[in-house]
Amino acid sequence: MNPVYEKLMKCYESVKEKVKFTPKVALVLGSGLGDYAEDIKITATLDYHDIEGFPVSTIPGHKGRFVFGYVEETPVVIMQGRVHFYEGYSIQDVVLPIRLMKLMGAEVLFLTNAAGGVNFDFHAGDLMLIKDHISMFVPSPLIGANLDELGVRFPDMSDIYDRELRDMIKNLARDLEISLQEGIYIQLTGPAYESPAEVQMCRILGGDAVGMSTACEALAANHMGMKICGISCISNLACGMTDQPLSHKEVQEAADKVAPRFKKLVTNVIAEIGRDRG
Ligand code: HPA
Repeated sequence: MNPVYEKLMKCYESVKEKVKFTPKVALVLGSGLGDYAEDIKITATLDYHDIEGFPVSTIPGHKGRFVFGYVEETPVVIMQGRVHFYEGYSIQDVVLPIRLMKLMGAEVLFLTNAAGGVNFDFHAGDLMLIKDHISMFVPSPLIGANLDELGVRFPDMSDIYDRELRDMIKNLARDLEISLQEGIYIQLTGPAYESPAEVQMCRILGGDAVGMSTACEALAANHMGMKICGISCISNLACGMTDQPLSHKEVQEAADKVAPRFKKLVTNVIAEIGRDRG
């Protein structure tokens, strides 16, 4: 068996043994939303450490667990803590949890992250709906023998971030009076923040926000036929756009400030997905 698939199936067997729950939505929590899982009706939790073969995050303070429960009536699995490529994992390991949540039954993937704004019209504290992405600065998780059990060799990418979901999110944000930018997310490897020249490159390429996650996850989910949506919390303007140097602490604090608004929007979106899609 393909080793990537074998590892995935081993994790899946391990999860199935421990938790009986079929989620509809899979939510990945980025910085600033880290404690969102504590706000929902939790029915079970599963530490990543307790899943055989599962990649575990090395960043201090990053919780690593799946939380299962309900946002209003919608059954969800939440990733409280993700693994990043810059931690040294293979890109296939980075997306393993996404694939796993699809195997658990999740049809919709909701990605969140903190990102640096590269668009001069953005401000720290903005929320940005992801319209599309540029993922090619990290290796594709689909490189290698195709996992035919998961999807096709050459997946279509015309509508990665589902248009219907995007329209629904924009309408909800308007109703809730939460202002929402829309733009293109570029994933770079990190872990260093970008140099001003790299930030300029991102802008020239058509990017609006830059970060170190998300696009590879969307790629893997798209391969498996999930419906995907994503929102970035613009925690800062990227390096060189202001006089201030960037620190992880500042990024974290800025993301925490946006959290109440971000959580409100996420809750409403997930509740609506539950209503909309039976
Ligand atoms: N660059 C990359 N990733 C980030 C940033 C940034 O400026 N802010 C938060 N995550």
